[in-house]
Amino acid sequence: MSGAKIFLCGAVVAVLSCFFVQFAGAQITDPSEVTALKAIRNSLIDPFNELKNWDSGDPCTSEWTGITCYNSTLSDGYLHVQELQLLKRNLSGNLSPELGQLSYMKILDFMWNKINGSIPKEIGNITALELLLVNGNQLSGPLPEELGYLPNLNRIQIDQNHISGPVPKSFANLNKTKHFHMNNNSISGQIPSELSRLPELLHLLLDNNNLTGSLPPELSRFPKLLILQLDNNNFSGSSIPASYGNMAQLLKLSLRNCSLQGAVPDLSRIQQLGYLDLSQNRLTGSIPSSRLSDNITTIDLSNNLLSGSIPSSFSDLPHLQRLSLENNKLNGSVPSTIWENVTLTGNESLILDFQNNSLANITSALNPPANVTLLLYGNPVCANANQLNIVEFCQPQIVQAPGGSTNSKISCPPCPTDLDYENNPLYPIPCFCSVPLALGYRLKSPGFSDFRPYEHSFEEYLTSGLLLYLYQLEIVSFLWEEGPRLRMYLKLFPNATLFNASEVRRIQDMFTGWLIPDSDIFGPYELLNFTLGSYGPVISNASRSGLGTGAMVGIVLGAVAGAATLSAVITMLILRRHSKYRLVPKKRTLSRIPVKIDGVKDFTFEEMALATNNFSSSTQVGQGGYGKVYRGVLADGTVVAIKRAQQGSLQGSKEFFTEIELLSRLHHRNLVSLIGYCDEEDEQMLVYEFMANGSLRDHLSARCKEPLKFSMRLRIALGSARGILYLHTEADPPIFHRDIKATNILLDSKFIAKVADFGLSRLAPVPDTEGTVPAHVSTVVKGTPGYLDPEYFLTHKLTDKSDVYSLGVVFLELLTGMHPISHGKNIVREVTTAYQSGMMFSVIDSLMGSYPSECIEKFVSLALRCCQDETDARPSMAEVFREVENIWRMTPEVDVTPSESTATDAGKTVTPPSSSLAAGNPYVSSDVSGSNLLSGAIPTITPR
Ligand SMILES: *[C@@H]1O[C@H](CO)[C@@H](O)[C@H](O)[C@H]1NC(C)=O
Ligand SMILES: *[C@@H]1O[C@H](CO)[C@@H](O)[C@H](O)[C@H]1NC(C)=O
Ligand SMILES: *[C@@H]1O[C@H](CO)[C@@H](O)[C@H](O)[C@H]1NC(C)=O
Ligand SMILES: *[C@@H]1O[C@H](CO)[C@@H](O)[C@H](O)[C@H]1NC(C)=O
Ligand SMILES: *[C@@H]1O[C@H](CO)[C@@H](O)[C@H](O)[C@H]1NC(C)=O
Repeated sequence: MSGAKIFLCGAVVAVLSCFFVQFAGAQITDPSEVTALKAIRNSLIDPFNELKNWDSGDPCTSEWTGITCYNSTLSDGYLHVQELQLLKRNLSGNLSPELGQLSYMKILDFMWNKINGSIPKEIGNITALELLLVNGNQLSGPLPEELGYLPNLNRIQIDQNHISGPVPKSFANLNKTKHFHMNNNSISGQIPSELSRLPELLHLLLDNNNLTGSLPPELSRFPKLLILQLDNNNFSGSSIPASYGNMAQLLKLSLRNCSLQGAVPDLSRIQQLGYLDLSQNRLTGSIPSSRLSDNITTIDLSNNLLSGSIPSSFSDLPHLQRLSLENNKLNGSVPSTIWENVTLTGNESLILDFQNNSLANITSALNPPANVTLLLYGNPVCANANQLNIVEFCQPQIVQAPGGSTNSKISCPPCPTDLDYENNPLYPIPCFCSVPLALGYRLKSPGFSDFRPYEHSFEEYLTSGLLLYLYQLEIVSFLWEEGPRLRMYLKLFPNATLFNASEVRRIQDMFTGWLIPDSDIFGPYELLNFTLGSYGPVISNASRSGLGTGAMVGIVLGAVAGAATLSAVITMLILRRHSKYRLVPKKRTLSRIPVKIDGVKDFTFEEMALATNNFSSSTQVGQGGYGKVYRGVLADGTVVAIKRAQQGSLQGSKEFFTEIELLSRLHHRNLVSLIGYCDEEDEQMLVYEFMANGSLRDHLSARCKEPLKFSMRLRIALGSARGILYLHTEADPPIFHRDIKATNILLDSKFIAKVADFGLSRLAPVPDTEGTVPAHVSTVVKGTPGYLDPEYFLTHKLTDKSDVYSLGVVFLELLTGMHPISHGKNIVREVTTAYQSGMMFSVIDSLMGSYPSECIEKFVSLALRCCQDETDARPSMAEVFREVENIWRMTPEVDVTPSESTATDAGKTVTPPSSSLAAGNPYVSSDVSGSNLLSGAIPTITPR
C-alpha cells in the first residue's frame, strides 16, 4: 500500500519535472562554450565513447558527461560551465587550446587519463579557475607562464606527467594558491626564490624532478608552508640552508637523495615538525644535539656521511615511529635510552635502524620491548654479538612499513544481486545489505611511517570531514607506495540501504572539489578513482537544477529502501529481544584450570555467549570434527575466532591445561595466536586471533575473486616457512607440526601467513641425558592425504623433514593453484613430469598474472626438492626458509595488493618482505598444539 503511494507521488513529481524542463528550455549554454566543448572533444581520443552524450543537446541542460553548470543563467542570460570533470575515463589525445574559452570554469579535472601533448597556455585565460587537476597523464612540454596569472587558483596538480622546463617565475603571483603538486615530472632548473612570496602556499611538492642549482635560503620565508618535499632532485653540492630551521609552521621536510652536502641544520625550533627525511645525501658532521619537536614520527638521516655519536636528544620523543641512521659513520655506544623511556601501546611500534655504522659498544644489556625493532648489523659491536647477547639485533634486515586491510569480513547470507549490495562490516546491524561507494584514495605526503596507530584517527578525520558516521567508512586495504605515499581502497556505506542521489552528489563533490580539509598528520590526499557502481545512472542523469528522471529513480528507490530498512531494523530489534530472552546463561562454574597462564585469558561461558550472540549460526565461520568455530567480538571490540568443542571431544581438564600452557609459550607472528580459553563444566573453548582472510586454500580456488599475485604467494611461502622453522628450532620443546596443508595456513587481515592447527603436532625428540638426539619419533601415521611424507608413511618415523615434504606440497599449490590430489592426479607427480619435460610454465597458475620467470624456476625447483621421496634428499627447514628468502630478494618490485588496481599512476609498490619489521620480535601471542579439540577445521571465511 505504501509502495503504491510512493509511486504515485513519484509520478506527480516526474510530471512536474518534465514540465519544468520544458519550461526551462529557454535557458541554453553560452554558444562560445558549446563550440569550445566540441573542439575539446575533437582533440581527445575517447576509445570507450565515454563522451557519447556530447553528440546532441545542450551541454548544461542535457547534462553532458563530466560537465556541471552554474545552476542559473548569469547576467549575460546564458548558462555557463562551472566544472569539467573527466576523472579516469581512458582518454588520450590532447588538451585543446579552446579550454581557454570556458571562462567561468572553476574546476578543470582530467586526472588519471593518458592525455599527451602540452598544457595549453590558454588555460591562463580562465580567470575563475580554482582547481587545475591534470595529474596522472602523459603531458609533456613546459609549464606555461600564463598559468601564473590565474587570480583564483587554489590548487595546481600536474604531478605524474612528463612536464619539462623550469617552474615559471610568474607562479610567484599565485596569491591564492595553497597547493603546488608538481612531483614526478622532469621539471628542471632552479627553484625560483620568488616563490617564497606566496602568501597562502601550504604544500610544495616538487619531488622526483630534474631540479638543479642550489636550495634557495629564501624558501624559509613562506609564511604558511607546511610541507616541503623535494626528494630525488639534484641540487649538486648545495647545503641545506640554516634558515630552514626558522620555518615555524613546517610539518614535513623531505630532501631525500638531493645531492646535498654540508651539515644537518638545527631544526629544533620548528615546533610541530613531524617528519624529517634527509637521507641519501652526502651530509657530514655530527647530528645536532638539540631536541626535535615532540610531534616527530619519523627521522631518516640514513645513507649520509654523518659522524659522532647518536645524540641522547632522540630519547623521549613520544610519537617516534622510525629513526633511521643506517649507513653512516656514527660511533660511540648503542643509545639504549631511546627505548628505555618510551611507552608503546596497542599497535604502536618503533624501528631503530642503526645498521652499518661504527657503533662499538653497549653501556647496558640491550632489552628493547617486543614492539621496538633494533637493527645493529654491520657495526663493530656485532663482532662480539654472542658474548654481549645481542645476536638477534645483529641480523641484516630491510625495514619497510606494513600495508594491510583493516576490517574483517563476516560471513553473512548473500545480498540481493540487482544492485551492488554489500555488508558493511561496521554497521550496527550485522549482515545488513547496502550499496557502498568505492574509491581509490591516496595520501601524497603522510606525516608518519606506520599507518596502523593512525588508522582510527584517519577514520575520524575523513568521516567528520565528509559529515558521515564513523561506521560508514571502511578502509578495505592500504598499501605503501614509492614516495612514500599511502594508497587506500575505501568504501563509504550509506546509513540506509542506499545513498540518495543528492547525498552521492554531495560526497562526490567533497572529494573531487577538495572540500575535505587537509589534515596536519595525513597531509594532502588525491583521488585515484570514484566508482559509482549502482549509483551511476542516477548521477549522470541528475542535474543540480530541477529533478531529472534519474534523480526520480533515486528518490523512489530511496523511499522503497527506506521502508525496507525500517522493517529490517524492526525485525532485528525483535530478533534481538527474542534472542535475549532465549539466552539462558549457564551457571558460571569456576574455571577448573589450576593456575593462571601468563598472556592467556580465562573467559567465562557468558563472555563467550555474548561475543557470539549466543553462538548464533550467523556467527559460525567453520566446522570441524571437534566442533564449531565462531567469529566473536569481545567486550573490548577485539574480533576473535572461538573454537567450541562439542560433546564427545572434550578432554580431561589437566590435558586441556597442559596444552594451553604449552601453546602459551609459542610466540611468533607466523603462528596463529591463542588469546584465551574457556573451561567450564561441560564446555571447552579456545579463543584465537581472528584470521580475516581465511585460509590459503580459499585464495587458490578458481572461483576466488582476487587471485593472489606472485609476490604475495612468495610472501605467504616465506611466512609459512618461518612459522614452521620456529616450531622446529625455537619452540621449547621443539614441535613437529605433522599436518601442514593449505587449509592450515591462515591469512590475517594484512595477508600475513600464520600456521594454525597443531592438532596432530608432536613434540620433537629431545636430547637424552647423554645429549644425543634421536633423529625421529615413532608414531601412528596421521596427516592429510596428498601431504603425507612417503617415507614417514612407510616407516612411521616422523622427522622434521615430514613437515618439509608437506610444505613442499603447499608450495606446489601456491605455484599451480592445483589441489594436492584431484581427479586421481597427484600434484607432486604432475609438476615433476612437467618440470622434467621442460613444460614447467604450462602448469603455473595463470591467475597470478605476470611473474619473473627465473624466480618461478627457483621456486619450483625448491618445492620439488622438498617433495623428494627420500628424507635425506630434502632440504632442511632452515635451508627452505633461506632459499625462499633468496627468491624473495630476487623478485623485482611488484604490486602485491590483492585489492583493486587503479594502475594509471606510475607509483611502484613497495612491499614489506615479511622478514622485516616484526621478525625477531614475536608478538605477544601464543599458539596451539596437540589436542583433539583442535584437530578439526580452521576458521575459514567464505569470500562472497
Ligand atoms: C545555486 O548555486 C548557488 C551557489 O553556487 C547556491 O548558493 C544556490 O543555493 C543554488 N541555487 C539552487 C536553486 O540550487
Ligand atoms: C587568451 O589567451 C591568449 C594567450 O594567452 C591571449 O593572447 C588572449 O588575449 C586571451 N584572451 C582573453 C579573452 O583573455
Ligand atoms: C599578491 O599580493 C601582493 C601583496 O598582497 C600584491 O602586491 C600583489 O599585487 C598580488 N598579486 C596579484 C597577482 O594579485
Ligand atoms: C635530467 O637532467 C639531466 C642533466 O641535466 C639529463 O641528462 C636528463 O636526461 C634529465 N632527465 C630527464 C628525465 O629529463
Ligand atoms: C603536535 O603535538 C601537540 C601536542 O601533542 C598536538 O596538540 C598537535 O596537534 C600536534 N601537531 C601535529 C601537527 O600533529
